[in-house]
Amino acid sequence: MEIRSYLKKQKEFIERYIEKFLPSGIPKELFDAMAYSVNAGGKRLRPILVIESAKAVNPKVDIDSFIDIAVSVEFLHTYSLIHDDLPAMDNDDLRRGKPTCHKVFGEAIAILAGDGLQSYTFELISSNKNLSAEKLVKIINSVAHGTGVFGMVGGQAGDILYEKENKFNDLEFIHKHKTAKFIQSCCYIGGLIGDGTEEQLNALKNYGLYIGLAFQIQDDILDEIGDEKKLGKKTRKDKEKNKLTYPKVFGLEKSKKLANEYIQKALDEIKILEAPEILSKLAKFIIDREV
Ligand code: IPE
Ligand code: IPE
Ligand code: MG
Ligand code: MG
Ligand code: MG
Repeated sequence: MEIRSYLKKQKEFIERYIEKFLPSGIPKELFDAMAYSVNAGGKRLRPILVIESAKAVNPKVDIDSFIDIAVSVEFLHTYSLIHDDLPAMDNDDLRRGKPTCHKVFGEAIAILAGDGLQSYTFELISSNKNLSAEKLVKIINSVAHGTGVFGMVGGQAGDILYEKENKFNDLEFIHKHKTAKFIQSCCYIGGLIGDGTEEQLNALKNYGLYIGLAFQIQDDILDEIGDEKKLGKKTRKDKEKNKLTYPKVFGLEKSKKLANEYIQKALDEIKILEAPEILSKLAKFIIDREV
C-alpha cells in the first residue's frame, strides 16, 4: 500500500469527526477561532498515530470506541500551533496555508481559542464512554505529561529562552520536549487502547520518541530548504529568529543523517508488534516528507 494515499484517506476520515466533536454553545467568536484553526488542514499525524498504534497491537480494535480520543489530540496539537505562532512566540503570519489565528481574530481570542482547545481535549477524553476509567486516567496522564511542563510546554520554553537570549543551549532537550514527547504519548495511548502488553507499550514509547525527534529535525530541515506553498507556513524563519535547530548545529547533511538514524532505531523497536507495517511506512514518511 502506498503510504501517501493511505494517509490521505485517514486524514479525510479524521476530518469527518473533527466537525462532529467541536464544542457547541460557546461564544461565537471563540468557536469561530477554534474551528478556523482546526479546520485549516494539516497532516492529522497525531490522531493517525493513535489509531495506527492501536491497530499495530490489535488489528481488530474497534476504532469507533475511541475516535473521540484520536480527534482530541488534534485539538490539543492545534492549540500548540496557535500559541506557537503568537507575536510573543514565533510571530508567524501563515499557518496551514492561511493567515494565523491571531491575524484573523486578534491576540486575545487566539490565546483563548488555544486555551479552550487544550482543556476541551481533556474534557473529551474523560467523557469517553467505552474505555475503562483506569485506562482513561492513564491516557489523560500521558497526554498531560507529554504536552505540559514535562513535555511540550517545557520544550517551548527552552526554544524561546534560546531565541531571546541564547539562555538555553540544549538542542536535544528542546526537540525531545517540544515535539517528540507529545508524539510519543500518541503512540503510547494507542497501544494502551489496543490492550498492548508491557513490552509492546515500551516499544511504542521508544518508537514514538524516535520518530518524534526525527519529525522535528525534518521540520527544521524543511524550514531551510522546503517549499513555502507546499508547507503552508513561512520558511527560513528559524535563522531569522535565531532558533536552535539541527541544521544550525550540524548542517543539513548531518541533520538528515541523524534523522535517518532515529528512524532506523524506531523501525527496530516495532518489529515485535502484531502488525507493524503501517507504523514502519509512517516512520519512513516522516523523513521523506516535503510537507
Ligand atoms: C508542526 O506540526 C509543529 C511541529 C511540532 C513541528 P505538523 O507538521 O504536524 O503540522 P500540521 O498539523 O501538519 O499542520
Ligand atoms: C513548534 O516548533 C513545536 C510546537 C510545539 C508547536 P516550530 O516552531 O518549529 O513549528 P513550526 O515550524 O512553527 O510549525
Ligand atoms: Mg516554535
Ligand atoms: Mg513556529
Ligand atoms: Mg519549525
